[in-house]
Amino acid sequence: MSVWAILVAAGRGERLGLDRPKAFANLGDEPLLAEPLRRLEACPWVDAVVLVAPPGWEEPAILVAEEEGCGKVCACVTGGETRSDSVRAGLAEVSEDALVVLVHDAARPLLSDEVVERVLAPLSEGWDGAVPGLPVGDTLKRVGSDGGIEETVAREALWAVQTPQAFAVDALRRAQTNGGDATDCAGLVEAAGGRIKVVEGDPRLLKVTSEADLETVAGWL
Ligand code: CTP
Ligand code: MG
Repeated sequence: MSVWAILVAAGRGERLGLDRPKAFANLGDEPLLAEPLRRLEACPWVDAVVLVAPPGWEEPAILVAEEEGCGKVCACVTGGETRSDSVRAGLAEVSEDALVVLVHDAARPLLSDEVVERVLAPLSEGWDGAVPGLPVGDTLKRVGSDGGIEETVAREALWAVQTPQAFAVDALRRAQTNGGDATDCAGLVEAAGGRIKVVEGDPRLLKVTSEADLETVAGWL
């Protein structure tokens, strides 16, 4: 089973508010991008990596991959306006021979072999995809535009999902051609009728959005 990973790193990082894309924010002494690249390189389940870089930042991205000795990086492509566009650009570089594709946010630097193993397992049991998730802990409210609570949403059976998300390549390619603007790849595959399983995620897969998140993740290194 040949497993390809698409590392989407093409976002602007507007909420972080630096003078460069989030993938090049400092995490410890290195650009953030270095951490997930190194982890994918070392992951025994991953055969090849497609890196999706911010427009104009392709060369610095390749340089980071080279400095980290990431021989699995087969292609570095320019991302698009939305995350879905960036995934599509990456998917175009995934080999026809690949059976499984993992899509991972560079903004979640602390990827582990264990979580990769957990999302890959359901694919050999006939699922079209699998995503890591954590059960929602807080009480959820639906809030109106005036700030008033309209409803308490039953929390049972609600999960917050993360990446890496694993898919049978054909299922993701088919879902992509249907288009749509789901906020994650699983949403596209679900909309196309695919069956996706949620497996246990990892709190350390926190997505870096703000400066405080960056400090939290740096503290976990
Ligand atoms: N991403 C991407 N292409 C885009 C938008 C997002 O590759 N056009 C990637 C980001 O690089 C990140 C992941 O998708 O690894 C999750 O996106 P998010 O956390 O929203 O990152 P940004 O879009 O960069 O941040 P912001 O929304 O604050 O601008
Ligand atoms: Mg964004």
